[in-house]
Amino acid sequence: MHGYENVLIVGSGGREHALGWKISQNEHIQRLIYANGNGGTGENVSIAPNDIEALAEYAKNNNCYTIVGPELPLSMGIVDVFSSFDLPIFGPTKSAAKLESSKEYSKNFMKKHSIPTSDFQVFSDYEKALDFIERIDYQAVIKADGLAAGKGVFVSNSKSEAIDSIDLLLNKKIFGESCNKIIIEKRVVGEELSMMAICDGNSFTMLDSCRDYKRAFDNDRGPNTGGMGSYSPVSEITEIEREYFAEKIFQPVINGMNSEGNPFKGFLYAGLMIEKHTGKPFVLEFNSRMGDPECQPLMMRMQSDLFQYIEAAENQALDSMKPIEWNKKFSVCVIMTSKGYPDKYETGYTIKGINNEYDPDLKVFHSGTKLNQNNELVTSGGRVLSVTSIGNTISDAIDKAYKQVYNISWGEDQQQFRKDIGTRALES
Ligand code: GLY
Repeated sequence: MHGYENVLIVGSGGREHALGWKISQNEHIQRLIYANGNGGTGENVSIAPNDIEALAEYAKNNNCYTIVGPELPLSMGIVDVFSSFDLPIFGPTKSAAKLESSKEYSKNFMKKHSIPTSDFQVFSDYEKALDFIERIDYQAVIKADGLAAGKGVFVSNSKSEAIDSIDLLLNKKIFGESCNKIIIEKRVVGEELSMMAICDGNSFTMLDSCRDYKRAFDNDRGPNTGGMGSYSPVSEITEIEREYFAEKIFQPVINGMNSEGNPFKGFLYAGLMIEKHTGKPFVLEFNSRMGDPECQPLMMRMQSDLFQYIEAAENQALDSMKPIEWNKKFSVCVIMTSKGYPDKYETGYTIKGINNEYDPDLKVFHSGTKLNQNNELVTSGGRVLSVTSIGNTISDAIDKAYKQVYNISWGEDQQQFRKDIGTRALES
């Protein structure tokens, strides 16, 4: 072990706040710095997550171990740059991060390594994509090939919806170069599930199960967002299913990435759809990072020392570690957003009502917040707060989280949140 004392967390969302909060519980960590952090993260340095050279300079001067939260710097090669300067960092290289940054690469990788995923075709030509849509007899999901902040996936219920999505991506290029190509894949109907693992290039340790809510409004209506809430564990997932995910999904990724000369080190996220009629899991996507907001309830429930696992992954020693221990209770995370998110919204409103009294079963992680010149906490982004609770039952956890949510306000007309987070767990 290197015995690092200073940790630099790259990113500014609820995921990064939760990661840092958990890492700070390691007894050796003296200083935790966020680049560029938010109004809740304490010591922040004003360097953007994509300013890789400035981050490297800072990490070197401050003797930091660096942990990367979001996908953008990973896709730009932050790990390659840091490694070239011998600076310690946790995350996948640019080539390995292609599992997320190129859906085309990812789908072809899954096909090649027999990882269960639905049928697909890749298009860059609008007419050819339309021709394909006319010929298929199933509902389609249309995806931008590149990164789109969680908003590049369009589930279509009809051919005309599919055609509209293809137009938005290939003609209107709403995500710029990220939609030079699109993936059209067969829609799988079922329940989504997020499974994540810490990987060291040769082996991996799975985290507990989690489910997120991607649509903006209750009952899964409205546009896709970065995530409106989550809960963990997903209690209907059995040990046998977990073993199946390990054997048929995570292990083949580790082996396949190794065989392609891109060993995967970092957090690996598999977004799964458990098909309704067959119970069969399909990989919808891989992400080369922790999920947001899946990270928040997972960190609340993790009893083991996360930083020890990260250090073990760095030393390719994960297989010598015990399985991660989890609190058996339930955790629920409700995301409070600015009104209008994921489309247009206003910021700059003063946030009131956050419970700052210490309660180990409640934590308000910050995303789009900042301290203004008067040192007041104000909104500064789309997703604003991740109100995360622990409860003996899922109902307890839901009640505890919403009690806090209803206490927080930055103006009735300026905030929104889903009111059904966690209720799917009550149904199952
Ligand atoms: N919650 C979905 C994601 O992090 O991409």
